[in-house]
Amino acid sequence: MALRLGDTAPNFQIDTTKGKIDFHEWIGDSWCFFFSHPADFTPVCTTEMGRTAQLAKQFADRNTKPLGLSTDTVEEHNKWIEDVNDTQNTTLEFPIVADADKKISELYEMIHPGESETAAVRSVYIIDPNKKIRLMMTYPMSVGRNFDEILRVIDALQTGDQHGIATPADWTPGARVIIPPTVSNEDAQKKFPQGFEEIRSYLRYTQV
Ligand code: BEZ
Repeated sequence: MALRLGDTAPNFQIDTTKGKIDFHEWIGDSWCFFFSHPADFTPVCTTEMGRTAQLAKQFADRNTKPLGLSTDTVEEHNKWIEDVNDTQNTTLEFPIVADADKKISELYEMIHPGESETAAVRSVYIIDPNKKIRLMMTYPMSVGRNFDEILRVIDALQTGDQHGIATPADWTPGARVIIPPTVSNEDAQKKFPQGFEEIRSYLRYTQV
């Protein structure tokens, strides 16, 4: 069955570069940025792993744990991490799942046979502390992900949860937000005492 937004992220137990984990237990009360890679010792993946390591503080500030995956062994991952640290000038501390038998990448639909029968594409799952899948993105093997967008979407989800709002195109933290159409003007006045701007009955902005 295809995974969908709002589904409980399937749980699993697996070896990683930081030891065996139970996925749900490991997430605990945090958010999770779960992202797959085609293979160790490949150039695009090396830059993405390095960027994630460089952003450790930004992920921690968002109570978000990164978890990488590629279809190689712990031994291969550990050798590769030395290269990532060397070439990307960082110290990679987050775990990488060793999915040599592709059980997890198949469970999470990360194998797209039109791209590769054996390697995972660049999937992203953002999972919340209730273990619900909140975002899915799939990138081709040849395109490195935009980590500003990954942090931005975590900010948008967390701001939305906190204030019951939606975020407009190209939103970044601090910009105006949207009052969902399900909230009446009467309720909006109570919920957003700071006021709101009504462009159309269905398009109302406020600041949170
Ligand atoms: C890379 O990470 O550089 C890569 C992996 C598989 C196919 C193309 C590029």
